[in-house]
Amino acid sequence: MLWSVPVALALASGANAHVAAFVKGMYCEGGPDPSNYNSNSNTPVNPLWDLPFEQWWMQADRGCDKAPPPGNASVELPAGGSFTVELAHNQAQTTLSFNGQFAGEWPDGQDHPENWSGPGNPPDCIQDDGAMHTQNQTMAAGSAWAISYNSDISQVNMENLVVFSVLEHTPWKRIATYEVPQDLPECPEGGCYCAWLWVPNGCGQPNMYMANYRCHVTGTSSTKKVAQAQVPVYCGNDSSKCLSGAKQMIAWNQASGNNVQVPNGASPAYGTNMGWTPGAQNDIFQ
Ligand SMILES: *[C@@H]1O[C@H](CO)[C@@H](O)[C@H](O)[C@H]1NC(C)=O
Ligand SMILES: *[C@@H]1O[C@H](CO)[C@@H](O)[C@H](O)[C@H]1NC(C)=O
Ligand SMILES: *[C@@H]1O[C@H](CO)[C@@H](O)[C@H](O)[C@H]1NC(C)=O
Ligand SMILES: *[C@@H]1O[C@H](CO)[C@@H](O)[C@H](O)[C@H]1NC(C)=O
Repeated sequence: MLWSVPVALALASGANAHVAAFVKGMYCEGGPDPSNYNSNSNTPVNPLWDLPFEQWWMQADRGCDKAPPPGNASVELPAGGSFTVELAHNQAQTTLSFNGQFAGEWPDGQDHPENWSGPGNPPDCIQDDGAMHTQNQTMAAGSAWAISYNSDISQVNMENLVVFSVLEHTPWKRIATYEVPQDLPECPEGGCYCAWLWVPNGCGQPNMYMANYRCHVTGTSSTKKVAQAQVPVYCGNDSSKCLSGAKQMIAWNQASGNNVQVPNGASPAYGTNMGWTPGAQNDIFQ
């Protein structure tokens, strides 16, 4: 059966691809149509740019808000531990598809040097149709996860969706491991809503990424509550201006629903320039 999969199918779909986190528990696993499972789907990786709020929020533009995880799967978040996902250009290039035969070290399933970078010195953008949106690993803007303690995703909003983990210098390789705050409490019956988030820094269209997941916290006896999320504030390299505590996702360069302002020429990132330190966000509780 596996022999019938044309290799060109997986590779060809890499062109003009971007990145999303693939893991059991994701919405849009196998694409937006549950009756037509697509192992070669890149639906969740396509960027969000210049869209009205109703369309970018939860990738409603492509129906991913209406395609819950098959088999009621859920991403496990071990309190005080970590969880691993696959950052890829296409589900075909992850272990969720084709027994992982097209999953390589990198998001595109192809080979690259450890110090993969664009041409020139200092390097220009990596020449991959803007899929990685970076010059090299150092310049990769960082990606993040947010959680909302609601099993009914219609109740999720910008104020109750709180960024809880940041991984600097990503997206980079396929395997990415994010830390979980020790004090996250249990999710309600039916699980929590989680989002994978990324705002690249240049190297192509200045867009953003928000993919949907069901998630649940394990190994916790915490009775703390996650605080209401505040709008993140640009602080650049001046840490005295950074906002601590629970923060909202970044909504940027959309037709409506934007929440952040940055100086001309700057790009907001899930990183220090918006007040996030790398790793688990342990300051998000009431
Ligand atoms: C990348 O590493 C290789 C092997 O160490 C080296 O030859 C090459 O010059 C490096 N390239 C850049 C752009 O640093
Ligand atoms: C990464 O790229 C940036 C931008 O071109 C450059 O300033 C920096 O020196 C590069 N870092 C490495 C380790 O090559
Ligand atoms: C689906 O998963 C959630 C969270 O893991 C659980 O609470 C719920 O009971 C499950 N529902 C069904 C129908 O299995
Ligand atoms: C901080 O950023 C400002 C504005 O971009 C710049 O002028 C300054 O040199 C930077 N300072 C450091 C220490 O990087």
